[in-house]
Amino acid sequence: MAQSGKSIFDAPADFLGMAMSLKESGAADQAVKMAKAALAERPDDPELRAVARAILSDGVHTYHQVMLADIPRNVAYRRAIDRFAKGKTILDIGTGTGLLAMMAVRAGAKHVYAVDRNATKADLARDIISANGMSDKITVITKMSLDLDREADLGGGVDMVISELFSANVVGETLMQALAHAAEELTNPGATFVPERCAIMGALAECKARPEVTDVEGFDLSLLNERLKKDTMVSVPRGDKFQRGPAQSLYDCVFEPDKPAPVKDKAFTQLVSDGGTVNGVMQWLRIHFADDIIYENPPGGDPLCHWGIRFEPFDEPRETSQGDRINVGCMQANGELVIWEDS
Ligand SMILES: C[S@@+](CC[C@H](N)C(=O)[O-])C[C@H]1O[C@@H](n2cnc3c(N)ncnc32)[C@H](O)[C@@H]1O
Repeated sequence: MAQSGKSIFDAPADFLGMAMSLKESGAADQAVKMAKAALAERPDDPELRAVARAILSDGVHTYHQVMLADIPRNVAYRRAIDRFAKGKTILDIGTGTGLLAMMAVRAGAKHVYAVDRNATKADLARDIISANGMSDKITVITKMSLDLDREADLGGGVDMVISELFSANVVGETLMQALAHAAEELTNPGATFVPERCAIMGALAECKARPEVTDVEGFDLSLLNERLKKDTMVSVPRGDKFQRGPAQSLYDCVFEPDKPAPVKDKAFTQLVSDGGTVNGVMQWLRIHFADDIIYENPPGGDPLCHWGIRFEPFDEPRETSQGDRINVGCMQANGELVIWEDS
């Protein structure tokens, strides 16, 4: 890193600026390399260490901590991987820390290709996998899965796809595009998907309405209410009862290409009321690995489940009687989920 006697490491602010520019211009792997070189060359320089840490943690969000503490999630993945991975060539889409790829190797996978679009995470996965002595069995690739080349990156098709690309709205993190692409372009016939499908679950609910914005500093800002994202995350502690009817799948995401996929981009469901005031739909996820391996985070469920419960309000609250049905539409496209009362 020396340039005519001077080193970029002598000017940590310039170094930080350069690293951030590299990331913005699509050369994040270069920034990661430089940060690691800084740590190796000057391990006792606190300023440089802080800068290197900022570069290496860029994009490594703290959600990883709560996600890794979601024991029901980890156990469901482990059980499915233990059942299906033996002897297979596997693609792990969105490897993050490399956890699921390592589970696959422990379960007897032939080889795992672990891909993450984020260079800092891919680098972290490489280091964690190396620290666990599995580098010869796992190839970490810094790429968006949609850009993978079946031959050049994966040495031909894979027999199994592992993915954990779920967000609270289920489809937010490239889920549908990435898995449809993997099914069409990257897998061998009859490939196993872990998980194999996922349902966007919903139930009628009565949740607290968000306070409306009126005037601020003498200006009328009430138009904001019409433009604000309608959905909110709700906390439903055990025992609390915001749910006003039984849960149903609003939309089924099916990943294995030979399984029947009932809908393309939208579905309509009649949700049944237990009676009382209903002002929207609570939504969560149900991940299906096998008939006896299912992960679900229903309202009031296991507090270790880290995905939040979303609440999608209707335009107006409704008074209902037991058995009343409300027609609800659910549409997804490109990571966005829209739920509405379709009366
Ligand atoms: C929710 S984390 C899961 C991490 C890890 N697999 C686990 O289960 O602990 C999802 C990861 O997928 C990555 N990601 C999302 N979509 C991707 C795609 N299409 N291709 C590659 N990486 C992707 C994100 O950068 C993120 O690190």
